[in-house]
Amino acid sequence: MKKTKWTIIAILAVLVLNACNQKSSELKQDVIGEKVESLLAKMTLEEKVGQMVQYNGFYDATGPVPTGGDAKKKYEDLRLGKVGSFLNVRGVEQVLALQKIAVEETRLGIPLIFGLDVIHGHKTLSPIPLAEAASWDLQAIEQSARTAAIEASAVGINWTFAPMVDIYRDARWGRVMEGAGEDPYLGAKVGVARVRGFQGDDLSANNTIAACAKHFAGYGFSEAGREYNTVDIGTSTLYNIVFPPFKALVEADVKTVMNAFNIVNGVPATGNSFLQRDILKGEWGFKGFVVSDWASGAEMVTHGYARDLKEAAQFAANAGSDMDMESDAFVSHLVELVKEGKVAESVVDEAASRILRVKYELGLFDDPYRYCDEIREKDLLYNEAHQKAALDMARKSIVLLKNENNLLPLQKNRQKIAVIGALANDKTSPLGSWRIGSDDSTAVSVLEGLMIHSSGFAYAKGADVVTGPVSFVQELNINTTDRCGFNEAINLAKRSEVVLMVLGEHGFHSGEARSRTQIDLPGLQQELLEAVYKVNPNIVLVLMNGRPLALPWAAANIPAIVEAWQLGTQSGNAIADVLFGEYNPSGKLPMSFPRSVGQCPIYYNHFSTGRPTNAEENVFWSHYTDEENSPLFPFGFGLSYSEFDYSDLTIDDSDPKNVKLTVTVANVGGIDGEEVVQLYLHDRAASVVRPVKELKGFEKISLKANESKTVSFVLTENELGFYNGEGEFLVEPGEFDVLIGTSSQEGLAGSFVLK
Ligand code: BGC
Repeated sequence: MKKTKWTIIAILAVLVLNACNQKSSELKQDVIGEKVESLLAKMTLEEKVGQMVQYNGFYDATGPVPTGGDAKKKYEDLRLGKVGSFLNVRGVEQVLALQKIAVEETRLGIPLIFGLDVIHGHKTLSPIPLAEAASWDLQAIEQSARTAAIEASAVGINWTFAPMVDIYRDARWGRVMEGAGEDPYLGAKVGVARVRGFQGDDLSANNTIAACAKHFAGYGFSEAGREYNTVDIGTSTLYNIVFPPFKALVEADVKTVMNAFNIVNGVPATGNSFLQRDILKGEWGFKGFVVSDWASGAEMVTHGYARDLKEAAQFAANAGSDMDMESDAFVSHLVELVKEGKVAESVVDEAASRILRVKYELGLFDDPYRYCDEIREKDLLYNEAHQKAALDMARKSIVLLKNENNLLPLQKNRQKIAVIGALANDKTSPLGSWRIGSDDSTAVSVLEGLMIHSSGFAYAKGADVVTGPVSFVQELNINTTDRCGFNEAINLAKRSEVVLMVLGEHGFHSGEARSRTQIDLPGLQQELLEAVYKVNPNIVLVLMNGRPLALPWAAANIPAIVEAWQLGTQSGNAIADVLFGEYNPSGKLPMSFPRSVGQCPIYYNHFSTGRPTNAEENVFWSHYTDEENSPLFPFGFGLSYSEFDYSDLTIDDSDPKNVKLTVTVANVGGIDGEEVVQLYLHDRAASVVRPVKELKGFEKISLKANESKTVSFVLTENELGFYNGEGEFLVEPGEFDVLIGTSSQEGLAGSFVLK
């Protein structure tokens, strides 16, 4: 009784506190609203348009550099109040120099907002985002973004172009490394965790930064996985697959959204009023501002949508693209367009207000130099707490794909181990792509990680993966000819008990503009793998890659496979911890791994088709003649050194608004471990066909050896409903199948009826 009373008091206190917090944040918003309005009233049209202009800085480029965008003009425009933001300027000294001009030399002294692609850390790098998503650990992911925000804010940055919440299904696309994989439910959860990490509880603190949900919308559906390619998807996919993570991020108060390079229904996203005005700002009530993607305004001309740059500026502004990144469209034409009546001044007012609001929220008007603290810059980069967080995240991101005869974990100091592969000795590649602020050669290599843990290694490179210089902006040269290290590697393998082969992609083999038509091991690595296998099949294959790879031979022949992605600064330590059993792997794939590139796009939440099976034993069913339909490794899959047993699935469908499910999970593997319990749903018949299964819940639990836990899920209308092609959200009664288990393909099945 007493306990109940205290519980009620505690709940009331939380409610009151929440109400107060909400009130105070509403109040703050009102105050900011008034400030924005009064500032706007003082601004000339030119100054308002100026807020809508973002220039690239003077050194790094993350896209094609426009002609005429020279430094002299940028400085002049800045002094005239014609620039609202810079990207790719970093470091206290550099940021301070520009901010001082904006604050001290322009008529109104409006501070700049500084954006950068802080995608998986700034100096201390976490795993690439796809790898982080494989952890399914929302707390760790939030912490990783927090670390990134702390380091980025220490070098003057107050805005990151992350998280990318595009959903995609095609491993040929290089940017799969930058998001959370193929599933909108997981994608939304991971995206929200990242926004929380970046933005924190108080955006005006000097260690939090504004986040950006990108790329709105549909960019992940580039045809055939080719970068910047055409997107052509139906509205049901748009509403059910593409939109949900963006909507979730708007609900989580993400401050900015970036539009996209692609077309949607024939209209470039940057000029797409349906996306930006109707859905984002209209239906979802997004209060922040929209930034274009790099030159995506100008590219509307190349798309064949706008006749010239001026028309591109007109279309972008009218469609709700508030800030123009590196197109020169707004700065060159928007004032004139307003004077000609082609863009209403209210459109400019709205865009400028949205941008100013975020600047106020960041506290830039209180202290424009709050992110420019040299002491923070000196103390915070690469600091110890950040290394610890990066190691934690890296270990959690590793996925154990195969472990025949318990070859893993390895025994410390007791086995003669050969380490083979150029990537094992690489301190740059494991940092991955999209790491503009980081320094080369700062990753702990696999060899270094192993050496800290154990002795008894010998190393042979075998073959280089790439030759010549590597960079974010240039094509890689893959080694397809130089086999001069093969013999040494083969001889070493012969003399060893276990062979650790570290193979995969270079860190710059994925990321923007890194589409591939082959998604096997690049260069000579497959040949090397098979040559070593001939002399010693006792191989642990450690994969480093930024996308799912199609490795049917390895999956069939190699006894142990560890998916180690590109894990950032702490790569080697994390991998060694898993190989020696100091960390029990717990990751699960956030994207299906195909058997062959010909299966792409491949994803678990596909539709049934009318002929999903070969009941008649003839050819007339949906299949390939030369390959299975199923993936090599499915979504949600990942092994552990423990074993988990699922039992006692219960379903209570008495309340259609709260369908309750429970399952018991036991660790029967004799060693402590973690498991991601996943819930999938299938609506058997609906007015718009539903996928064969969809993730609708998950929980990561840790279980001591021999421990068991009951995990509960509640399905509400949010999980039970879906969007039709008109964007209406429907919850329809009928029969549902449920799968609760260890992956999208394995678990306990049940069903219920929604009344
Ligand atoms: C990318 C964006 C990125 C921007 C700025 C573009 O090429 O598509 O995701 O934020 O460049 O670097």
